Amino acid sequence: QEDIFKNVISHAKEYGFIFPSSEIYDGLSAVYDYAQNGVELKKNIREYWWKAMVQLNENIVGLDASILMHPTTWKASGHVDAFNDPLIDNKDSKRRYRADVLIEDYAEKLNIKAIKEVEKAKTRFGDAFNEQEFVTTNPRVMEYKAREREILERLGRSLGNEDLEDVKALIEELEIACPETGSRNWTEVRQFNLMFGTKLGASADTAMDLYLRPETAQGIFVNFLNVQKSGRMKVPFGIAQTGKAFRNEIVARQFIFRMREFEQMEMQFFVRPGDEMKHYEFWKEARLKWHLSLGLGKENYRFHDHEKLAHYANAAADIEFNFPFGFKELEGIHSRTDFDLKAHEKFSGRKLQYFDAELNQNYVPYVVETSVGLDRMFLAVFATSLKEETLEDGSTRTVLKLPSVLAPTKAVVLPLVKKDGLPEIAHKIVEDLKWDFNVGYDEKDAVGRRYRRQDALGTPFCITVDHQTIEDQTVTIRHRDTMKQDRVKISDLNSIIENEVSM
Ligand code: GAP
Repeated sequence: QEDIFKNVISHAKEYGFIFPSSEIYDGLSAVYDYAQNGVELKKNIREYWWKAMVQLNENIVGLDASILMHPTTWKASGHVDAFNDPLIDNKDSKRRYRADVLIEDYAEKLNIKAIKEVEKAKTRFGDAFNEQEFVTTNPRVMEYKAREREILERLGRSLGNEDLEDVKALIEELEIACPETGSRNWTEVRQFNLMFGTKLGASADTAMDLYLRPETAQGIFVNFLNVQKSGRMKVPFGIAQTGKAFRNEIVARQFIFRMREFEQMEMQFFVRPGDEMKHYEFWKEARLKWHLSLGLGKENYRFHDHEKLAHYANAAADIEFNFPFGFKELEGIHSRTDFDLKAHEKFSGRKLQYFDAELNQNYVPYVVETSVGLDRMFLAVFATSLKEETLEDGSTRTVLKLPSVLAPTKAVVLPLVKKDGLPEIAHKIVEDLKWDFNVGYDEKDAVGRRYRRQDALGTPFCITVDHQTIEDQTVTIRHRDTMKQDRVKISDLNSIIENEVSM
């Protein structure tokens, strides 16, 4: 699995999808740049989301709020006081860790031990092996599983009660139980705020301390009444937004899974108090359906309903995705009650109430939120689409089987040879198609190698111009996934591509 992930990262770099930020200065940890193909894939994911959320829903409108907001926003939202990660330093190695991640890693080790036991038994017993039964009856596996659960539950309780001493105690206990990592020279656990600070204004004494927004949601909350009034919106209605968010993550790893600068796609749905669970259930299902529509495989998704809830929520679930390093959060659906709007009323002194004409009543709406990381979506799509295939003749090819609707380039036009007027015809085809699709042109190397390059870039179609084209105005069109080639009229190309790639 580690190898698969390394492969994903190097493929993203080699084929111009993602580069480390400021690489000539050795990069900046957990910050990445989207390259020529990455920026197209990312844009297409964003548009796919926008279409589903804004264009197709009459009662959802868009917004593009600024990254910088009045600092009181973050007092009201609770981020100044509660947006923390627990940190611990090891005095021997002088390394800093997120205490919860350290503990989760230990629990993960137990899980791996359990999986290994199962694998061992599987090879021993062969076809007769019943995995379900083995897992529920084998004492060793049960012990590992029970211990894993106990550790995670205790971690959840300690963090929930802000009992940082117990978090430290748990780390020390685990290290005794795991002598190979034994090092008990830890500092206290302390809370570290994840927001990036910055300053507004030039002179030192009048400058105002600001934060870069850690979520896009607050830009929506503070504009709730502006949008409702100017758009004459009726509850229930939604406001959707995509944009950058910033978090000073301590454990920056797993490539673009956890970044310091990332993009969110969020939608806040404003509903009548008391109706929130109905809408919460609706959006859970609707969002899962959206993910499934991309065809990455139903088995790669699962819900994780939260038992421990954030300070603002009365129900919350994650849609988890099977990343190369296991199932992890891809999207969150939260029932945020009236926590945010009420807090902004309190801190701003302004009323944020809606008059419900049907009920003849004023109230602060409840909010159901859907929040997905664009970069995480990118990683899910990219990593799952990347395949090594063995062909009939025994050779292998690398192919990026992206959903065609998301592919950076929809088609590339290839003259078979660089002479006899073929490049001119190919250029003319590009000229005609480029108004409707992102198309490319390539004349370098033998055509077989050019096909392989487009496979690796995820281009759904290769259009080849050959000598027959001069005679009868037809070309071959090669399909990325099946490698099948059809002979078609140039005049039909537009509708063939449209059919496959339209959103
Ligand atoms: N407004 C709610 C909110 O921000 P969250 O669970 O903290 O909730 C929502 O974040 C989504 O944003 C996550 O499911 C994840 O996809 C993405 N996300 C959060 N932190 C991230 C990070 N450091 N790097 C990349 N994506 C991140």
